[in-house]
Amino acid sequence: MTDFEKFDALVRSRKSLRAFLPKPVPHEVLRRLLETASRSPSGTNMQPWQVYVVQGASRDNLINETCAAYDTLRLHPERAEEFGHAGDAADRKVGSPYLDRRRQNGWALYGLLGLTRENKDGMHQQQERNYRFFDAPVGLFFTTHVSMQGSSLVDFGLFMQTFMLAAKTQGLDTCAQGAWRNFSKIVMRHLKAGPEEVMVCGMALGYADAHALVNTLETPRESVDNFTRWLD
Ligand SMILES: Cc1cc2nc3c(=O)[nH]c(=O)nc-3n(C[C@H](O)[C@H](O)[C@H](O)COP(=O)(O)O)c2cc1C
Repeated sequence: MTDFEKFDALVRSRKSLRAFLPKPVPHEVLRRLLETASRSPSGTNMQPWQVYVVQGASRDNLINETCAAYDTLRLHPERAEEFGHAGDAADRKVGSPYLDRRRQNGWALYGLLGLTRENKDGMHQQQERNYRFFDAPVGLFFTTHVSMQGSSLVDFGLFMQTFMLAAKTQGLDTCAQGAWRNFSKIVMRHLKAGPEEVMVCGMALGYADAHALVNTLETPRESVDNFTRWLD
């Protein structure tokens, strides 16, 4: 295989998994992945990332409180502000074609699991699995200083993708989790993060449950011609 073929295969081997085994991840492995990810580029090398690794009792306590809040929100959606970013209001204004792709993605997942539109309990339970890190033993949170919220957020994408690809080389899988932002107030309290910090994203990390149906989901991509304009 050429270097490109190896790299391409690694990139294509990563996908978001949503069912993990309880098998712990060695501390040295986690440390090494973070060390590799820290080589990601960032604007003016500001390295705006702060990472929290949540495992054991910290993970369990966070899950318990968040899942309780998630259930509460189902009955009292008006309390969203109390727990987090209130569903990222700006996100809800997303239009075509992004909204179509988002819906396609959601229904592909629910469809795979046999969950129909009418099955509100089933969808609630599947969505709640986010707040259990899909049973992964390791949760990660990426936060930054409040002053870094603009273009520096790009740096997190670079860091997270480097981290996720590095994880694949260690037999580990991941799922980036924006869903935790809905409960960022709970998360930040559990992390004992300072008032100047804001949450960017969460992530589940662990060894894949190879037998889980949900992990067979394959997502499409637009063709290069659909997202590229060549100006000569
Ligand atoms: C920033 C970001 C946030 C995401 N948040 C979630 C999430 O909260 N829950 C979830 O199940 N998947 C989440 N995903 C996974 C996306 O749905 C997934 O990347 C996309 O559908 C493409 O599929 P793939 O990762 O398998 O290639 C997130 C991905 C990214 C990059």
